[in-house]
Amino acid sequence: MLLRATLVALAAIVDLVHAQDESNQPPCSQLSALSTNNATIFPADLAYSCLRSVPLAKEGDLVQLSGLRTFLEFQSDLTYLEDPTIGRIYPGVDLLAGLDKLTSLLEDDFYDNEYSFQLDIFKLLSSAYDGHLLYIPDIVDVFAFGRLLNEDLDDQGDTPDVYAYSDEAALTNPGDFGYSPSPIIQINGEDVLTWLNSYASQNGRSQDPDANYNQVFVSVPALAFQGTETSYFALSRFYQGENTVLTFANESTRDVMTRAHYLSDKSLEGLTDGASFFDRFCNNNLTETILAQANSSGTTPSQTTLNDTAVPYEPVSTEGVASPHPAYPRPIVISEDKSVAGYFSNANPDLAILAVTSFSSLSLIEFENVVRQLLATASENNRTKLVIDLRGNGGGTIFLAYDIFRQLFPTETPYGAGNYRAGELHNFTGRVASENIEQLRSAYPELVNAGVDGVVLNSFNYREPLTENNEQFTSWEDFFGPQQNDRGEFTSLNRFNLTDISATTVPILGYAEDNITQPQTFSPEDIVLLHDGNCASTCAIFSEFMTSQMSTRSVVVGGRPQTGPMQGVGGVKGSQVQGMFILSTIVTAVLAAAPLPDQLDFITKFGTDLVSATQQALNRASAGGSLIVKASVNFRNNIRQGDESETPLQHIYEAADCRFFYTPKMYADQAAVWDQAYDSTWGSMECVEGSTEHPSSVTGGSDITAEPPEMARNFFGGNGSIVLGAEFDSVLRNTSSGSSSSGNSTTPGGNSTAESNGDSEDSKSGTNALVAPSIRASFLALSGILLFL
Ligand SMILES: *[C@@H]1O[C@H](CO)[C@@H](O)[C@H](O)[C@H]1NC(C)=O
Ligand SMILES: *[C@@H]1O[C@H](CO)[C@@H](O)[C@H](O)[C@H]1NC(C)=O
Ligand SMILES: *[C@@H]1O[C@H](CO)[C@@H](O)[C@H](O)[C@H]1NC(C)=O
Ligand SMILES: *[C@@H]1O[C@H](CO)[C@@H](O)[C@H](O)[C@H]1NC(C)=O
Ligand SMILES: *[C@@H]1O[C@H](CO)[C@@H](O)[C@H](O)[C@H]1NC(C)=O
Ligand SMILES: *[C@@H]1O[C@H](CO)[C@@H](O)[C@H](O)[C@H]1NC(C)=O
Ligand SMILES: *[C@@H]1O[C@H](CO)[C@@H](O)[C@H](O)[C@H]1NC(C)=O
Ligand SMILES: *[C@@H]1O[C@H](CO)[C@@H](O)[C@H](O)[C@H]1NC(C)=O
Ligand SMILES: *[C@@H]1O[C@H](CO)[C@@H](O)[C@H](O)[C@H]1NC(C)=O
Ligand SMILES: *[C@@H]1O[C@H](CO)[C@@H](O)[C@H](O)[C@H]1NC(C)=O
Ligand SMILES: *[C@@H]1O[C@H](CO)[C@@H](O)[C@H](O)[C@H]1NC(C)=O
Ligand SMILES: *[C@@H]1O[C@H](CO)[C@@H](O)[C@H](O)[C@H]1NC(C)=O
Repeated sequence: MLLRATLVALAAIVDLVHAQDESNQPPCSQLSALSTNNATIFPADLAYSCLRSVPLAKEGDLVQLSGLRTFLEFQSDLTYLEDPTIGRIYPGVDLLAGLDKLTSLLEDDFYDNEYSFQLDIFKLLSSAYDGHLLYIPDIVDVFAFGRLLNEDLDDQGDTPDVYAYSDEAALTNPGDFGYSPSPIIQINGEDVLTWLNSYASQNGRSQDPDANYNQVFVSVPALAFQGTETSYFALSRFYQGENTVLTFANESTRDVMTRAHYLSDKSLEGLTDGASFFDRFCNNNLTETILAQANSSGTTPSQTTLNDTAVPYEPVSTEGVASPHPAYPRPIVISEDKSVAGYFSNANPDLAILAVTSFSSLSLIEFENVVRQLLATASENNRTKLVIDLRGNGGGTIFLAYDIFRQLFPTETPYGAGNYRAGELHNFTGRVASENIEQLRSAYPELVNAGVDGVVLNSFNYREPLTENNEQFTSWEDFFGPQQNDRGEFTSLNRFNLTDISATTVPILGYAEDNITQPQTFSPEDIVLLHDGNCASTCAIFSEFMTSQMSTRSVVVGGRPQTGPMQGVGGVKGSQVQGMFILSTIVTAVLAAAPLPDQLDFITKFGTDLVSATQQALNRASAGGSLIVKASVNFRNNIRQGDESETPLQHIYEAADCRFFYTPKMYADQAAVWDQAYDSTWGSMECVEGSTEHPSSVTGGSDITAEPPEMARNFFGGNGSIVLGAEFDSVLRNTSSGSSSSGNSTTPGGNSTAESNGDSEDSKSGTNALVAPSIRASFLALSGILLFL
């Protein structure tokens, strides 16, 4: 007995000594010691200390900044960001001046560690609020910071605002639970709305504040599609302290633990200090990154099970199949990957629902078939009204937007014209590529493997795109222009050759061999788009076809708890995202194929270091997705038909036609959301006060010069520290926006829903994917419920 007690005591002492030893170790070494059993959850402070102990790599960092400058030249709306239009709500940002500022801070030894520096690069590019403009430095992608859902913690709850999502069931069925849920009134001692608005601005990457606000909260469509919680409150890319204190209206508080969530697939074992952390996680050899990804993409299992046969326009059984999530009814038809599904409403016998949660489909034909089958089945069953639920849809394969539009309106031609920024490097690359296209194609088959193909060449080979009038361009000069407007020089407006795309890339109804005949099932006035602000990229392209060409109305749900209108499409509306790796591959290949005089011309214009600098910028980006690294720009502007100012659509404010708020029931039952969308459009037509007929909305006249309403700029006191912090403000911001302490400067980020990654990302098939990450752990979520009216 005694012996045993002594041994236990001894063991405890040894543990203590061990622990003390450990705490004298560098933080990365301590982290390494905790990384047994493939642990993915670590103390947040320790992870943060480890990150901040990584020594600054100044020489390489300077080269990296220079490489980034080259890539930013391809950002289509660079000059609009610098000098914002009236339609933009967030402040503008001069990204090139930002790089200059970072360069001088580096040179002045402002940074004492690598993490802080790289995080500032991330923040700078994030401050554009453009989901296509993404650059995640390697060191920033090792940990995320998540608020853990801890069921064991003691919880200590009228007409409320924000609830913990775990109170959802009790809100829906008050009688079944032993307490009445109370709304959150403070977070970390700060007024909940101030905190949330600041947090949304810092973590969100949509250009609309309501969209970013919604993304702080749980999204049932996203949850159903991805099977995992990805809202910003649950998970941020930024250190959040060790805990978050929620204060409820009933005066109880809840202490929510924050933990570092490990994201890398490398092992943490054997790290000794910050320098060894750098060696393992940073400055990876890009060639090796590519090889590793080629390895892993070869092992994707799913493809074999998918159905790739086009079906005719014929109804299917209305009995329904398994629902994608308990909050959903049984679908009439659904794709295997759950990206698209069709439903019938029980409450409204004339209503069908087409739910498109993502355009990132694993099987393009199957996706198109699901749409076709829903339309045919709706028609057969006299469902004459259609809600198209686009909540949570951050985009995907561009041409699926074209196909759905054609399926809805088989005789309409989708417009989709856009332009590129007419920069010098684009001019050089495109001219030489166009002049040497056969040589490029035959000499560089690996270009094709890297995804450099039709859609990409569209931007560099003038023979591929068509003019605004669907005619051929006659020369590179004819395509490139440049056309001058008040924000600089842009290429000629151009469109995709849909016959060519349909034959080679994605079948589009009525083009090339996609010659299935199908009737128009719904009239435009019998369709309504249902948005939550999240819509971006390919979703924005589709919404633009619908609202601008067919005057289809839209309703939007959620947003900041205030009256007035809200935008449905809150994400980037650019019509092509482009991986920096692919841009680099093209420039390099073109340079190699160029005749000597052109090579000399290149060196004269751009110097000898451009290629190695861009390579360094790519080496410092986190690996991921089939874009090889998590680094991309918004490459192509989408332009409204007839807009002579040629303003990129994301710089135009566009309110939805009606707005409503979520109720508890709508979280538990998605049919309640659809029925509300129906009622708001064709029934009672009740909408949030002041949310209808804004001049920018379809019913208000679609005025592209309309100003956002005053309340769109209301951040509830949480305006501040949206971008880089005080020392950057004077240089980067063209609109002053006050400042606030809320959320603190450490907060921004989160693996945004706006990342151009995702397994199905594929430039070859013209993909604009803004895919949320997959995180497998339970994180605390909030629900933005407003018991309105
Ligand atoms: C850790 O992960 C690796 C690779 O996934 C696996 O082979 C190994 O068994 C795991 N170890 C433990 C202790 O779970
Ligand atoms: C106060 O509200 C919280 C959050 O809804 C709830 O968990 C808690 O049980 C409530 N406390 C009391 C005493 O009602
Ligand atoms: C990168 O990796 C490739 C393939 O392993 C190798 O050939 C090359 O030398 C490496 N580059 C550097 C700079 O280490
Ligand atoms: C690719 O896979 C092979 C076989 O599994 C492995 O030997 C090789 O190391 C992998 N290469 C990379 C770069 O991961
Ligand atoms: C593919 O879809 C067609 C039409 O729905 C169906 O008849 C066929 O059985 C499906 N094939 C597979 C392999 O699921
Ligand atoms: C659809 O309407 C037609 C004409 O009114 C009717 O004959 C048919 O029975 C209806 N079909 C269903 C499924 O309700
Ligand atoms: C594009 O390049 C050509 C050939 O070098 C040159 O003549 C032309 O001026 C360039 N255009 C612009 C706008 O720089
Ligand atoms: C579009 O592409 C198709 C197929 O490649 C081609 O036959 C057609 O001529 C192109 N259209 C125009 C206007 O060039
Ligand atoms: C439709 O396309 C197929 C090839 O996929 C072709 O065989 C058929 O003739 C076409 N039908 C029509 C009506 O053009
Ligand atoms: C937030 O910004 C808006 C618009 O610039 C301004 O009207 C409001 O006063 C600002 N609020 C704070 C707290 O700075
Ligand atoms: C911000 O950080 C400071 C210093 O770390 C801290 O004192 C303050 O409470 C924080 N504010 C908020 C709102 O978290
Ligand atoms: C970000 O996304 C990538 C790719 O989907 C994923 O591997 C990573 O875990 C995500 N990180 C966070 C913080 O969610």
